Amino acid sequence: MGARVVAVANLKGGCGKTATAVNLADMLADAGERILLIDASPQANATGYLGIDSREQERNLYELLYEGGRIEDYILDVFPGLSLIPSVMDLSAANMFFSEGGKAHDSDLRKMIEPILNDYDHIIFDCAPDFGLYTRCALYAADFYLFPTQAEYLSYQGIITFREFSERAGGRIKDNLRRSRILLTMYSRNIRMTREMERRMTEEFHCELFNTRIRRGVRASEAPSYSQTLRMLAPTAGVTMDYREFAREYKEYANT
Ligand SMILES: Nc1ncnc2c1ncn2[C@@H]1O[C@H](COP(=O)(O)OP(=O)(O)O)[C@@H](O)[C@H]1O
Ligand SMILES: [Mg+2]
Repeated sequence: MGARVVAVANLKGGCGKTATAVNLADMLADAGERILLIDASPQANATGYLGIDSREQERNLYELLYEGGRIEDYILDVFPGLSLIPSVMDLSAANMFFSEGGKAHDSDLRKMIEPILNDYDHIIFDCAPDFGLYTRCALYAADFYLFPTQAEYLSYQGIITFREFSERAGGRIKDNLRRSRILLTMYSRNIRMTREMERRMTEEFHCELFNTRIRRGVRASEAPSYSQTLRMLAPTAGVTMDYREFAREYKEYANT
């Protein structure tokens, strides 16, 4: 069985997409899985989170999409088990690419990853909160989507709108919705609104919610500034345990 490919997405910013993509990748790698993380966001947050200075990387996702070539040449080994295709925080490059976007197609990234599917157990895309070309390429490349979501109205709305856009895009981008799943992040059981939104989302999406909840934890907001994953920075913190538990649940789901 080749790599399971997931796009971590939501139209809402700040709902834990990058925290989830990076720490899921790290936890799975720690459990012996072979992981390729692809930073598909122009903020290059996942790249920075892993301690890599995106400005020093000539090889990044934009170059890959724009110049083409062998995908293997764009892959960095971060540590054993975890590889990365970095992003770049260079908006002019991104804009150039957008303005000449006619050259690129939603299906480009899928074609590029196909030759390496057997080299990994999981490929994880960290997406930007938009429905631009990079996001669509990542969605097309994926087999399903993971929606990190705060139990708040705007995050919930971000999923609803995302699903509408995907339906409209049609084809593979729409079909992937069927296997997609939601992860509640920054979860605080003692906030009434959280419980209310959780109830509403459980009713509306029931079987689509992962069982694990990622609690709100200060270590999660500190980790990116130390360029350390939660497992490295705070191995025993509650939020770290949540991501470890989630990685187990995710792996089981992805393998079925
Ligand atoms: N479980 C959590 N508890 C507390 N803060 C978190 C948690 N997950 C993420 N954060 C923080 O919230 C902010 C947004 O998270 P991030 O993963 O960057 O979201 P996105 O990629 O969706 O924009 C960041 O500052 C991050 O460090
Ligand atoms: Mg992000």
